[in-house]
Amino acid sequence: MLKLPGLIDPHVHVREPGQTYKEDWDTVTQSALAGGVTTILAMPNTQPPIFDEATLNLALDAAKQKARCDYGQFLGAGPDNAVKVSALANKAAGLKMYLDSTFGELRLDDMTLWMPHFINFPKSAPIVLHSESRTMAAGILFAAIYDRPVHIAHVSLKEEILLIKAAKEKGIKVTCEVCPHHLFLTKDLTGFGNLSGLTPGRKEVRPRLATQEDVDALWQNMDVINCFATDHAPHTLKEKDSENPPPGFPGLETLLPLLLTAVDDGRLTIDDLIQKSVINPRKIFHLPEQSETWIEVDEDSKYEIKAENQFTRCGWTPFEGWQVKGRVRRVVLRGQVAFDDGKVLAEKGYGRNIRA
Ligand code: DOR
Ligand code: ZN
Repeated sequence: MLKLPGLIDPHVHVREPGQTYKEDWDTVTQSALAGGVTTILAMPNTQPPIFDEATLNLALDAAKQKARCDYGQFLGAGPDNAVKVSALANKAAGLKMYLDSTFGELRLDDMTLWMPHFINFPKSAPIVLHSESRTMAAGILFAAIYDRPVHIAHVSLKEEILLIKAAKEKGIKVTCEVCPHHLFLTKDLTGFGNLSGLTPGRKEVRPRLATQEDVDALWQNMDVINCFATDHAPHTLKEKDSENPPPGFPGLETLLPLLLTAVDDGRLTIDDLIQKSVINPRKIFHLPEQSETWIEVDEDSKYEIKAENQFTRCGWTPFEGWQVKGRVRRVVLRGQVAFDDGKVLAEKGYGRNIRA
């Protein structure tokens, strides 16, 4: 049995308020615990989006009632809420800015809309950018101009990881995360699991899946990657297989088995896994230590990933049929057994707000 600290996932789409038929604070935190994740940071592209105090409280009240693991909630940068959200910084995980196409309406195209956020949001609080390719370059330039840290979400391209490496070498305060789907899947579906029944909608995700060369560049620059994050973005199978499929993959329950399989294959070290799933996210997002918290993993257990065994409400996984090695047996969260042998034991409401 391998004992690890509880994992932190800094990028999760909970869907509550507004779209609880996809997922809610109860199911998402069950999914987290089953995946060995004891803290999630929730994204603000809910319905309504988390744009002010009232909407922040909507999300936090639901979380307080339902969450079974610890959590934080991001604020969303809108076209005219820079002063409002900066006043709420100490209650939130940080500020999320969508500079590129996404699910929902939070995209800020005009750079004059970015400026008030960079000017007002406290430098000590995290800003996370959804930015791809050239908007990422622009976002890094903003970090340099306004001399404040930025965290780049879901890096997927070779040009992006190389740019971040160069920016770090110049001393610009930039950190980044990479998602398992961008490390294990390509746009040609190389590596995709059970291909039978795979509709085009199921591979839709933003940022899109990339080429083998991009995937190789991420693995080759593992030392530039600060965090692993799932970008857990549940949509139902019916939606994914529809005419107009929304982008996004669930990921909380496949994160650790995929990474442990990479460790088993000699592509990743356990130290890297702990650094990028616990130590760095804790530092970057200023998260408290969780006392008496750990996960127990059976490193030798081999099994097949199946959606039917998952706790997420969305009912599918892009890794269906994958053979993995490494199973979460037990999760202990603040002294209580929260998950044991396939069962979630933490009660609704046991989770704590990391900013409370
Ligand atoms: O694939 C994605 N899904 N990318 C995003 O930017 C948003 C997310 C979602 O909320 O579904
Ligand atoms: Zn996301």
